[in-house]
Amino acid sequence: MGTFSNIVILTGAGISAESGIMTFRDAGGLWEQQRIEDVATPEAFVRDPARVQAFYNERRAALYTVAPNRAHEALARLEREYPGTVTIVTQNVDDLHERAGSSRVVHMHGELRKVRCRMCGNVIEWEDDVEEDSGCPDCCTVGRLRPHIVWFGEVPLYIDEISSLLEEADLFISIGTSGEVYPAAGFVIEVKEHTHTIEINLEPSRGASLFDECRQGPAGILVPALVDELLS
Ligand code: OAD
Repeated sequence: MGTFSNIVILTGAGISAESGIMTFRDAGGLWEQQRIEDVATPEAFVRDPARVQAFYNERRAALYTVAPNRAHEALARLEREYPGTVTIVTQNVDDLHERAGSSRVVHMHGELRKVRCRMCGNVIEWEDDVEEDSGCPDCCTVGRLRPHIVWFGEVPLYIDEISSLLEEADLFISIGTSGEVYPAAGFVIEVKEHTHTIEINLEPSRGASLFDECRQGPAGILVPALVDELLS
């Protein structure tokens, strides 16, 4: 494989599956157990904030029971050792890329280990459960914290930065995403014609035919193999 100046890697729930974090749309996935409209929309939060907080509290707590896998580790190694720039744009709200050692990570759907104050607007690192009477450490207002998560109907974060990254990319790799959720599903169309595009997924995603190359199988095996190719 040639040398690239700017590699952009889009990741989805599939990259964290082998760490034990459930995906959304596979059989038995999260959206089969919970209805999106009950836990992942602004309307759900207005209707039943306790239920929504409990859903994200549980997922935040679960992060402490899992660890990065070989796919996360391989991407961190790529960033460390590749002569060009390597940036991860992730739809995941877990922190496994960071814990594996990646430093250029853009969380377009938010982060479980952060909350946002609806009074002062600040985004705050948060390790524990959010309770009804949790206060904002910055403005001290009680009961106004929400998960720092992009819900359905909300605009993803860092869209301008991501557009610039895609504009500059000469290699675009998509890993472990079903291609069901926009705008991420459209990134493969946004990159320039001369950008080489590779998909790694357990099965062909909805947009698989849009990629130059599709590799099917578990991320824990295929991602380290691709990183070895890029570094050789
Ligand atoms: P999905 O659950 O929709 O898709 C996960 C994809 O990963 C599927 O296509 C699986 O085949 C694949 N997969 C599963 N295990 C894998 C493995 N070990 N190796 C490689 N691939 C594997 O998850 P996303 O595409 O990330 O948004 O979902 C996108 C967004 O929808 C999420 O960020 C979330 C969700 O609603 C929000 O919550 C805002």
